[in-house]
Amino acid sequence: MASKLPDAAKGLGAGGALDVEDGSGGGKKVAGRWPGFVHFFFVLTVVTCALVYAPRFLSPTVPVDFLGPRQPSSGRAAAVQGRSVDGGRGGNEGDALVLDNQVNSPCASMGGHGICCDRSDFNTASANATVGEKEERVQPYTRKWEKHLMANIQEVRLRAARPDEAQDGHRCDVRHDAPALVMTAGGYTGNLFHAFNDGFLPAWLTVQHLRRRVVLAVLAYNPWWAGTFRELVSGLSDHHVIDLLHDKRTHCFPGAIVGTRFHGILAVEPARTKDNRTLVNFHDFLAGAYKDDSTPPEANQQQQQQQPRRRPRLGLYSRKGTRVIENEAAVARLAESVGFDVSILETANGAPLSSEYAAVSACDVLVGVHGADLTKLLFLRPRRAALLQIAPLGVPHVARGCYEKATAMMEMHYEQYDAAANESSLVRKYPADDVVLRDPEAATRERGWDLTARVYLGGQNVSLDLGRFGDTLRKLHSRALRLPAAGP
Ligand SMILES: *[C@@H]1O[C@H](CO)[C@@H](O)[C@H](O)[C@H]1NC(C)=O
Ligand SMILES: *[C@@H]1O[C@H](CO)[C@@H](O)[C@H](O)[C@H]1NC(C)=O
Ligand SMILES: *[C@@H]1O[C@H](CO)[C@@H](O)[C@H](O)[C@H]1NC(C)=O
Ligand SMILES: *[C@@H]1O[C@H](CO)[C@@H](O)[C@H](O)[C@H]1NC(C)=O
Repeated sequence: MASKLPDAAKGLGAGGALDVEDGSGGGKKVAGRWPGFVHFFFVLTVVTCALVYAPRFLSPTVPVDFLGPRQPSSGRAAAVQGRSVDGGRGGNEGDALVLDNQVNSPCASMGGHGICCDRSDFNTASANATVGEKEERVQPYTRKWEKHLMANIQEVRLRAARPDEAQDGHRCDVRHDAPALVMTAGGYTGNLFHAFNDGFLPAWLTVQHLRRRVVLAVLAYNPWWAGTFRELVSGLSDHHVIDLLHDKRTHCFPGAIVGTRFHGILAVEPARTKDNRTLVNFHDFLAGAYKDDSTPPEANQQQQQQQPRRRPRLGLYSRKGTRVIENEAAVARLAESVGFDVSILETANGAPLSSEYAAVSACDVLVGVHGADLTKLLFLRPRRAALLQIAPLGVPHVARGCYEKATAMMEMHYEQYDAAANESSLVRKYPADDVVLRDPEAATRERGWDLTARVYLGGQNVSLDLGRFGDTLRKLHSRALRLPAAGP
């Protein structure tokens, strides 16, 4: 595919011995040479224009080459000067740059470790290959198993430059003293679950150890993404974001990470990180990004302690269109009568995520019918809050699969309320003995994901049995009261 493209290429990388800021943690910048050079040199060329500007090329991939032996005249190509890794933790002054924070990752097999590639779609044999031996192709998105989606994720191509090319003196328009993370703002980013699950959580997993000393080089960059997630973008990086496809300058970096890590659905596996990170640490990252500093948590906790008989707060997500709680007003009154203060939380109402963060983090219990809103369980207070997910008929496993584990990783309480057939709006559409109502599992086995998507997820509301749902609410209410007012 690359060969068909014109040499409307641009490069990204670093050449030569760069002066870098070495050490971090404090504000003090120590300029110095990278110790332990390894003589390899990469050119990352983004061959873009044909695809980006000329829609007649319907190919979805935008190759990015490290090295452009056949396009030396493009001159846009620079390189990443590799640098050895000493195995130390990133961030300590004097330590070598540690690009990769994962344990036993395929990326650790890269010669010199100047570039760390996502090899999650490589088989184990080829995961051993070094960049020098073969071209690396990386689609920097997590959902490698979804062929249809991945066809729309731009591809980055990496090759090692020959020594003579490396000495050619690639021009750097911009020299960065921090490594680059090549990631994408594309994929299912418009859906909040995917924005976190496949975007920001993986990006955080990949670069959090660099403590914002990383430059985000973003494919499919767009202003909506930058605006909607601006707190997270600046929480990840101290630097301006590079719009990889449209920025015409040559950027030079001391190292690069291409692609992001993925530990599972909304998951952080501490044992897979060198610094034992957890999902609670990711929550803390979100708290730091969104929190308005005027109310430190200690102050809140003191207030709560002084209140004699605290009413725990329950946030109830109010969906529109599908998976609506048809008796929502009665459910809210029920929760009040059980002893909660109730907030009705609007879904996708255009409010900035920072205000969503504030609303959700104030809740002791977050309640909602299965949907992307519940991703905001990440905003709840770890170790204290509870998530109550209402699963419509036919999707209890799907619902549980999305959020139960993440809730546990936040050390919070997970509760699931499975709607029965007589609580589903599908009773108005199907006769009582229809397999869709009678045996949803059998119906799904027979008709597959289409039935789930169209009927159980896309065509169903619920009307909750107030008696049974009240029991669940009372249980969560007494749990909330049992918790000491001040958290750890
Ligand atoms: C990777 O390379 C090392 C050293 O060359 C070798 O010992 C190891 O068996 C290789 N692993 C695989 C999966 O090929
Ligand atoms: C990782 O963190 C957990 C909890 O924070 C702790 O119990 C465990 O001992 C830590 N493991 C290592 C290897 O540091
Ligand atoms: C679910 O409720 C919404 C809002 O009331 C309504 O627009 C929609 O038609 C309902 N869907 C079904 C399947 O009843
Ligand atoms: C709804 O069905 C459940 C069993 O699936 C039953 O226990 C309950 O009594 C029914 N409720 C009504 C209002 O019929």
